[in-house]
Amino acid sequence: MKPNASNLEVFYNTFREISKAVHSSTDLKEVLDLAVCKATEALGAKGAILRILNLDTNELELSAAYNLSDAYLAKGPVSQKNLITDLYRQSRVIVIEDIHHDPRIHYPQEVASEGIRMVLDTSLSFRNHIAGILRIYFAEARPVSDEERDFLVSLADQCALAIEKNRLIEAQKNKFDLLALQTEKLSALGRMAAGIAHEINNPLAGILLFSSNLFKKVPDEGPLKEGLGIIMRETQRCKFIIQELLEFARDKEPRKTPASITTILQKSLNILENEFRLRHIRIEKDLTPDLPDGCVDANQLEQVFVNLLLNAAQAIDEGGTITIRSRANPAHRELAVDIIDTGCGIPAENLGKIFEPFFSTKKNGSGLGLAVSFGIVKNHQGRLEVSSRPGQGSQFTVALPSARNPA
Ligand SMILES: Nc1ncnc2c1ncn2[C@@H]1O[C@H](COP(=O)(O)OP(=O)(O)OP(=O)(O)O)[C@@H](O)[C@H]1O
Ligand SMILES: [Mg+2]
Repeated sequence: MKPNASNLEVFYNTFREISKAVHSSTDLKEVLDLAVCKATEALGAKGAILRILNLDTNELELSAAYNLSDAYLAKGPVSQKNLITDLYRQSRVIVIEDIHHDPRIHYPQEVASEGIRMVLDTSLSFRNHIAGILRIYFAEARPVSDEERDFLVSLADQCALAIEKNRLIEAQKNKFDLLALQTEKLSALGRMAAGIAHEINNPLAGILLFSSNLFKKVPDEGPLKEGLGIIMRETQRCKFIIQELLEFARDKEPRKTPASITTILQKSLNILENEFRLRHIRIEKDLTPDLPDGCVDANQLEQVFVNLLLNAAQAIDEGGTITIRSRANPAHRELAVDIIDTGCGIPAENLGKIFEPFFSTKKNGSGLGLAVSFGIVKNHQGRLEVSSRPGQGSQFTVALPSARNPA
């Protein structure tokens, strides 16, 4: 087709129509259907198809077609490695005049019986990646002008943009779906845990009562006393786990008052003093003297620090350092406490799981410490974050709004 003013106007209007659809529509199919139809009309072609590259299978899958028979469209999907390489290497637009002897045409017989004599391929490119191809079919072989090539490339870029936009939306949607599922799972788990904990609490209290009564009556020496001692200790442990479960499931609203975070930290350290001494763990403090108060439930926050410090001690096991650092951001709106250990660290594949209830790598761990702590910090509008280097240590950060924060 020879370029003339009216052709250019058609190209321009078509391009505008497609780019408007790309920006205003979230329905990818609708945009691509429009693109193949308008491209065919603007070029006076016979029909067109658009194939999107499936990144998993590396195949070009049919996504939109215009004016081609169902029988022809039923072919495929086809692996188009050669075609993609050619589009990369040669140019964005490839003209295939000899449909019978070109390896890029997979079904020459069918193409010919569709009444097609020439094929024009344009790559759909996005940031140097090929997202698919736009193939235009002509009933007659004819020269292709530069203006037509430019038009096709611009149109193909718009389609690539629509595909990429759709991929982003889908990825975002999957993320949200996953999050919603996770939240739903957690709250179902919470309800179930609360039910079970409640049911088990009473029989446990009975076991504990009768075993401690017997404990008092049996002779001091002998296997009976020892056995009863074990029953009592293990029952206590069960009660403790149940208590933690109930706390977790109850999701208690914090009773917040302005309080010194440094004081709460110190209290938590005192509780674990013995643990640190026994394990030969050195505590290094790097505390900001004028740390603003937090608006917190002191008991709950103490529980968080104890959980984190205990985890740090258990990760070190024997001989190491726990550094406790406190800091406030410049506007004193947020304060943070880092608990850094020189322990075993957390493998990357576990980082996403450690805040889940019941995830534990310890022989006697309930896996509730971090789940409970995460819930408490979240209820304080704060964040509990982790970074870790396996074999070197981990850092847990509790970030909280300060009492000066109007929020
Ligand atoms: N400082 C840390 N260093 C290395 N791994 C850690 C650290 N803190 C937590 N973890 C990992 O995260 C898991 C979950 O921790 P969490 O405190 O929730 O449960 P737990 O310590 O196993 O049991 P619980 O606290 O209920 O007794 C741990 O089992 C451990 O694998
Ligand atoms: Mg723990």
